[in-house]
Amino acid sequence: SITRHYKFDIQLQNVTRLCHTKSMVTVNGKFPGPKIVAREGDNVVIKVTNHVSNNISLHWHGIRQLLTGWADGPAYVTQCPIQTGQSYVYNFTIVGQRGTLWWHAHISWLRSTVHGAIVILPKLGVPYPFKKPYKEVPIIFAEWFNVDSEAVERQALQSGGGPNVSDAYTINGFPGPLYNCSSAKDTYKLKVKPGKTYMLRLINAALNDELFFSIANHTVKVVEADAVYVKPFDTDVVLITPGQTTNVLFETHSSHSNATFLMEARPYATGLGTFDNTTTAAILEYHPNPNSGNSLTRLPLLRPKLPALNDTAFATSFVSKFRSLNKPQVPTNIDKRFFFTIGLGTNPCPKNQTCQGPNGTMFAASINNVSFTLPTTALLQAHFFGKSAGVYTPDFPTNPVHPFNYTGTPPNNTMVSNDTKVVVLPFNTTVELVMQDTSILGAESHPLHLHGFNFYVVGQGFGNYDPSKDPLRFNLVDPVERNTVGVPSGGWVAIRFLTDNPGVWFMHCHLEVHTTWGLKMAWVVQDGKLPNQKLPPPPSDLPQC
Ligand code: C2O
Repeated sequence: SITRHYKFDIQLQNVTRLCHTKSMVTVNGKFPGPKIVAREGDNVVIKVTNHVSNNISLHWHGIRQLLTGWADGPAYVTQCPIQTGQSYVYNFTIVGQRGTLWWHAHISWLRSTVHGAIVILPKLGVPYPFKKPYKEVPIIFAEWFNVDSEAVERQALQSGGGPNVSDAYTINGFPGPLYNCSSAKDTYKLKVKPGKTYMLRLINAALNDELFFSIANHTVKVVEADAVYVKPFDTDVVLITPGQTTNVLFETHSSHSNATFLMEARPYATGLGTFDNTTTAAILEYHPNPNSGNSLTRLPLLRPKLPALNDTAFATSFVSKFRSLNKPQVPTNIDKRFFFTIGLGTNPCPKNQTCQGPNGTMFAASINNVSFTLPTTALLQAHFFGKSAGVYTPDFPTNPVHPFNYTGTPPNNTMVSNDTKVVVLPFNTTVELVMQDTSILGAESHPLHLHGFNFYVVGQGFGNYDPSKDPLRFNLVDPVERNTVGVPSGGWVAIRFLTDNPGVWFMHCHLEVHTTWGLKMAWVVQDGKLPNQKLPPPPSDLPQC
């Protein structure tokens, strides 16, 4: 294993899409940002320097950060933001992971433009458990807003209504040929040779939308999810929630040496709010192709068939196909059980504002009725230096405060409390967490992401979770291991994990609008007794608030 050095300069860059030019925050002027490539076991050192007026902080989504919690990155959770003119060096080792992950800004809504792929290759000499691809390509889905991310965030926060929806989805930064005012050079093109195996490293970096993805006339084989191998399965359509990564293989046909096909993505949406229901497309172009000019008059006619926008039946069956490839170490003796209600709620409308929530209230989102408020200092510093007083309280509810029929009639009182409550757990606690979507203001599926751990998805269902029956059907044999899971609209999901990583670990809905509204919390995992079970002190350049 070796050390890989990267230099990330946070800088403004003018970018034009859909005939709109905006100056946006980027890493090294790139959208999407630079790709990090490392092998399992490598040490990765990224020096981030902030040259813009916004505060910044970067998160390495899905990296376990074993004993390196200071490098995890969510602002006000593991660190204070990197201020203008300052630098911070993120330093971590990739332990026991290979596949695709990604990095993104973890402050305000900057991840809309500040994100990129993390490609983790197996250790030198270790083969993939599937056919070696001829070529591997990251495919990053994101959203393009004609306005800047600050304006979108302001819209979500201040009016109390939903945020502006995006103007386009993008594939590797480009909206593609199905939008008005989107030219050939605004289309990502993947050139392939006939009769070869390709691997796409799919990343959903979109702020607020789960996406269906499909390639016309090509079936893909899913082999990996969230940097963990899965039992391979074939599908024509992939569903990917914000935060998730999925590696798929496909074979190029031998008989299509002059053809072009569209790869398309568009949302899966179950909520009531407005959303961007447009379709992004990229081109899969077979070579040799004598007419491989750039003109869109050759717009490919072969388009894939994507499920309906609200096709929950497809989503459910797709998600149920994921199984761990290697024998997983699922916790069986559970030390701590939690039941979290995940959903929306309301706050009083601030004076002098008009809010768009029900009865003039302001929209909020919560877990067990707690809408999480970020502190003005970092939780991890407060924990590490024993200064939690006035920063957080250790009384995050293990169960809903007022139980109700979660998928039936919503309760009268939909108000949330606004607190900085956390769960404190000893090192090596086995946790079972059931997350129940609620129908308050409409059932909606929520991609829940846990920092610092992978978890096993042992169960999933619709309606209210039944603690007397549902656990009997848990899969403890080969459940998928992930860092982000969709809590189904009008249903629940059960996960298990082991707190083998001391630190403060954020958990939140990866829909940015819900994170902003408070659908987030933190797990504080105490040090273990042995020296290699203790979080080391912070690096000397850790930003201060
Ligand atoms: Cu991908 Cu807390 O984030």
